[in-house]
Amino acid sequence: MTDYKAAVIGCGRMARGHMQAYEELGIPIVAGADISEEALQAFGEETGAEKLYTDYKEMLAEVQPELVSVVTHDALHCEMVVAAAQAGTKGIVCEKPMAMDLTEADEMLAACRASGSRLTISHQRHYMPQYARARQLIADGAIGHVVSAEASLKAGCLMTDGTHTIHMLLALLGDPDVDHLLGQVDGHEGYEYYGHRCENAGIAFLAFTNQVRASMVWGWMARSPAFEGRIRRQHSLDPSWNDEIHRYHHFIIHGDEGRLELYGDVFRDADLLNASALRIFRGDQIEEIEIEWPAPVSAIGLEIKDLLGTIETGAPHPLDGENGRKVTEVMVGIYESARRRSVIKFPVEVRDNPFLAMCETGDLPPPGDETGSYVAPNERERWRARSESDSEKGA
Ligand SMILES: NC(=O)c1ccc[n+]([C@@H]2O[C@H](COP(=O)([O-])OP(=O)(O)OC[C@H]3O[C@@H](n4cnc5c(N)ncnc54)[C@H](O)[C@@H]3O)[C@@H](O)[C@H]2O)c1
Repeated sequence: MTDYKAAVIGCGRMARGHMQAYEELGIPIVAGADISEEALQAFGEETGAEKLYTDYKEMLAEVQPELVSVVTHDALHCEMVVAAAQAGTKGIVCEKPMAMDLTEADEMLAACRASGSRLTISHQRHYMPQYARARQLIADGAIGHVVSAEASLKAGCLMTDGTHTIHMLLALLGDPDVDHLLGQVDGHEGYEYYGHRCENAGIAFLAFTNQVRASMVWGWMARSPAFEGRIRRQHSLDPSWNDEIHRYHHFIIHGDEGRLELYGDVFRDADLLNASALRIFRGDQIEEIEIEWPAPVSAIGLEIKDLLGTIETGAPHPLDGENGRKVTEVMVGIYESARRRSVIKFPVEVRDNPFLAMCETGDLPPPGDETGSYVAPNERERWRARSESDSEKGA
């Protein structure tokens, strides 16, 4: 482990997760890059890294780290991963979403192939114990032959959070290929996050080549009352969405012998309902599945640990760039379905981001119409403030 040195591009909020992960693995962080001097200074103090840059390309050229975390806003991931690959970085950990469209995803994969760099996309929930246990149970036949799945997410945008839900849905189902899908999104609120416009809700139906079918619903109307750690149940429209049983996203996998329910990001054995994060229903019997909490190393730590194995032995990585592209293809496919108002047959051919294109052409209602919005007013102010502070930072 001590042979590696790491650097971080983008020293904001999520960089803290990457800093913790490198620390857990005993990998020194030797450098950081950020356009904000303030962020750089805080990063330097927290990590002890002395090499701090406002130009990430200069950092890559001078430091030549073996490992680089790309933790900037979504639309910057592609250029930074490509630059890190071209600088000869052995392992690149890129935050989700992998890319804004398939053009970018393919550019990133091509650059990594050319340099021999290993790329991983941080859909790190893969390593959280409840999700890992659920995947194992399904693969071992605990609910029989899988027939269909339902996924729901309490956040409004595929590019910001839905990418995690798409990834997990595919992973729970054993990464089947999509045959076709149908999707629609509601972008009328015009909110922006991580440097781009976001939809505020959507629905999709996915048909896989192995005949399994899945539905997905996401949006602020399903927003968790305790998403920010506060109990504000009154904002939840439907008690079934209440946070004690929902937790970020929620999955039901139906098999011909039972169904598995996975209650998202619960961080301990029993939640406020005093029930396991994972349950199997067979007829009128409910089996509460025991999960080992917490994982000895954080999820991002486990992601990076596997990346070291991939670099050293060529072993496949569950969150590699190809997997990230697969998730991106579903995301773009749903947006394209909304744009064309029709079923999208895979593979997805479109090269742009249809949602962002619809925002530009005015095919989506212009932002500002807040009638019918489900976001509590104080939330709306919070998102506005955040988005203004993001644009001030030049993000
Ligand atoms: N995997 C997860 O669970 C998870 C959770 C939250 C965020 N994220 C992702 O992490 C990424 C970062 O999110 P965040 O919450 O840390 O955002 P943030 O705004 O807190 O941090 C981003 C940092 O990037 C810096 N930056 C902007 N342009 C730059 C440039 N050209 N060069 C170097 N630095 C630059 C900003 O100054 C800022 O400090 C996003 O893509 C987000 O989607 C992932």
